[in-house]
Amino acid sequence: MATQLLRRVLGSRSRQILSTTNPNPNLALPIARAFSSDITPITATLFPGDGIGPEIAESVKQVFRTAEVPVDWEEHYVGTEIDPRTQSFLTWESLESVRRNKVGLKGPMATPIGKGHRSLNLTLRKELNLYANVRPCYSLPGYKTRYDDVNLITIRENTEGEYSGLEHQVVRGVVESLKIITRQASLRVAEYAFHYAKTHGRERVSAIHKANIMQKTDGLFLKCCREVAEKYPEITYEEVVIDNCCMMKTKLLAKNLLLYWYAQLVKNPAAFDVLVMPNLYGDIISDLCAGLIGGLGLTPSCNIGEGGIALAEAVHGSAPDIAGKNLANPTALLLSSVTMLRHLELHDKADRIQNAILSTIAEGKYRTADLGGSSTTSDFTKAICDHL
Ligand code: NAI
Repeated sequence: MATQLLRRVLGSRSRQILSTTNPNPNLALPIARAFSSDITPITATLFPGDGIGPEIAESVKQVFRTAEVPVDWEEHYVGTEIDPRTQSFLTWESLESVRRNKVGLKGPMATPIGKGHRSLNLTLRKELNLYANVRPCYSLPGYKTRYDDVNLITIRENTEGEYSGLEHQVVRGVVESLKIITRQASLRVAEYAFHYAKTHGRERVSAIHKANIMQKTDGLFLKCCREVAEKYPEITYEEVVIDNCCMMKTKLLAKNLLLYWYAQLVKNPAAFDVLVMPNLYGDIISDLCAGLIGGLGLTPSCNIGEGGIALAEAVHGSAPDIAGKNLANPTALLLSSVTMLRHLELHDKADRIQNAILSTIAEGKYRTADLGGSSTTSDFTKAICDHL
């Protein structure tokens, strides 16, 4: 009954929200072609990751087994020594696995703050050219938060900007960090955002920026977004300064008209549709959006790369405070795995799993502590399997 209700409530919306169709005609999606049959097993790379990663990855494996999803996992763990070929703890073999399979699921990977080795996440994004991080953010039926009408997508440029990893000390007491914005990467992510909007029945793309201060870098990003917007006259394009986007009345440019709109994520999230932005803003805004719908434990994402690669991942980190205690909420990684299934065009399996997750949460009997419940990771996972 709960499943039927959810299906009615979410309908096709949930399907389009979690789909990550690649917009770039030059970046074909060989996976969908090669694995149209439900019977042929598909090999996908799995990075269980650090901290709570292995526990929530186990949930995904259990749910996939119960739902008889035809996926064989090729598991790769973070190494204990730096691999000279990747200059990080990520092994070359694990990167080759993603390149070969073109599809995968990634658990959280820990990075020491302010020192130590090259970030594993940055390495993955750079090495695999994962240029767009797509994070759907929508209110879950049956789980009450301040808003029940959130339905937006953040699309974050994933390869450059403030996260270029170019930092150095100029003289003692003065350090410099380089923010790199290129025309090529900006056009690529803007193209993805507009194509996503068009193919998912979305009406508006908002470019989030701070070009009033960072005139050259964010200015170039906006210029590229405008160029792409011209190719999509059916999609309303607007530009929103990042602080206004979070909390302020703002002025927006829509189809050459100056309009006024209360575009405030924290006060009126329903005002937004698809948001596209440089790296750092995307990191912050997408976490803010996760907070609107119940927290990091619920929010999935998918990284889109050149050559048709899709690497789905939960947006949260390794949660060292609860690691190994069977307390983690596996929903974000499970919904990320649903994204992966949609990328593979295994929509029946994706629908079943998604409905089982949402029904379990809506029912309220089994919820993990972050959602106000007292269930363990394994109890919650079992409840999902029982709903399948
Ligand atoms: P975090 O997301 O790991 O934890 C923040 C808070 O949310 C903690 O209280 C944690 O217990 C809770 N939380 C996170 N995921 C949860 C889940 N699934 N269920 C229940 N509670 C959950 O962020 P933090 O503490 O800043 O980072 C820890 C490590 O993770 C760092 O090394 C960081 O670099 C890494 N990290 C990795 C990411 C990735 O691999 N994509 C993303 C963010 C952080």
